[in-house]
Amino acid sequence: MTAIDQDPEGLRALDMLATMVALVHRDGACVHVNAALETQMQLSRRVLARSHVQDWLEDGARLREAIDGVSRNAYSSSRFETLLRRGLRPHEEALPVQVIVSQTDSPDLLLLELIENAQQSRQDREERTLDQVQATKELIRNLAHEIKNPLGGIRGAAQLLALELQPTELGPELAEYTDVIIHEADRLQSLVDRLLAPHRRAQVVGDVNIHEVCERVRSLILAEYPKGLKVRRDYDTSLPDFRGDREQLIQAVLNIVQNAAQALAPRIAAGDAEIVLRTRVARQVTLGKQRWRLALELHIEDNGPGVPPEIHDRIFYPLVSGREGGSGLGLTLSQTIAQQHQGMIDCDSEPGRTDFRITLPLP
Ligand SMILES: Nc1ncnc2c1ncn2[C@@H]1O[C@H](COP(=O)(O)OP(=O)(O)O)[C@@H](O)[C@H]1O
Ligand SMILES: [Mg+2]
Repeated sequence: MTAIDQDPEGLRALDMLATMVALVHRDGACVHVNAALETQMQLSRRVLARSHVQDWLEDGARLREAIDGVSRNAYSSSRFETLLRRGLRPHEEALPVQVIVSQTDSPDLLLLELIENAQQSRQDREERTLDQVQATKELIRNLAHEIKNPLGGIRGAAQLLALELQPTELGPELAEYTDVIIHEADRLQSLVDRLLAPHRRAQVVGDVNIHEVCERVRSLILAEYPKGLKVRRDYDTSLPDFRGDREQLIQAVLNIVQNAAQALAPRIAAGDAEIVLRTRVARQVTLGKQRWRLALELHIEDNGPGVPPEIHDRIFYPLVSGREGGSGLGLTLSQTIAQQHQGMIDCDSEPGRTDFRITLPLP
């Protein structure tokens, strides 16, 4: 018929997409559907290819309009939201989708992309979160630099003052005050250093095996909590190595495992605390603004009380802590490290089960 008959390879490539795609004739007749669309519609592509696309969508007229406009070259692509009827059967729940109609190389053929709306909004949300995290990080970094400079001056002046006061009568008494100033300046200095830390060290890139990272973290945490804590492994050993900074990744995982162990304190005392390190392969994942064919997931699960709901949405932000004496920097650092590996961390938590998921793209 047309270009597509000469390019079956190109059509097969469409089957690898997670997005639903169809090629339609300008008169609305379906020419080809990819595997993702076939699955959602629960009909074979042979059946679908004999149907009219208007019939699949709740808003068939809107589609007609889009197809006309795009094929007349009034606009090169058109986007709208509607519902996709599945199975062409009335009892099946319709799927909210965003439809994009665009031109192809061939004047008679149009490309129809259907993106599930839930996926769309999740992606939007993730992008927004990433932007926000970026902005917060910059703010913190600037603030930290602003604090760092005068801090050196304050500490130096307090030291000089202490020296001046030493030989005087009041010296021993006032030394207490200068000590407080110096001690607090040091504490602030170390906080500022930790705020700036993730940006300071250059990455050391090599081949990383995720299970080596897990094993290392496991032995570190078991050394810290020798009694009452079980750390179970559930590894998919088929996962390949990838390029990354091994030490940084150990740090990222360790921060999460340490939080879990801290949250598990009462269970550790009772002897039934459990952390699970689970690795899995994931396909066709979107991380930030990029799409990857293959990724690994490392789940760090614990049977503790869960993340306090009032801070759940903010735990990756700096200085957010639900713990007495916590710095609120652990998860920020872990997230930064994951992002430096093009990955990300998210968290799903309820009382009795908390799951931190690190997703990292694979080659
Ligand atoms: N596995 C977990 N279970 C319950 N709460 C958690 C867990 N992991 C993190 N949190 C919460 O997230 C907060 C932030 O963690 P983090 O950034 O490491 O800072 P910090 O540990 O210094 O408080 C913790 O204080 C805790 O309230
Ligand atoms: Mg922590």
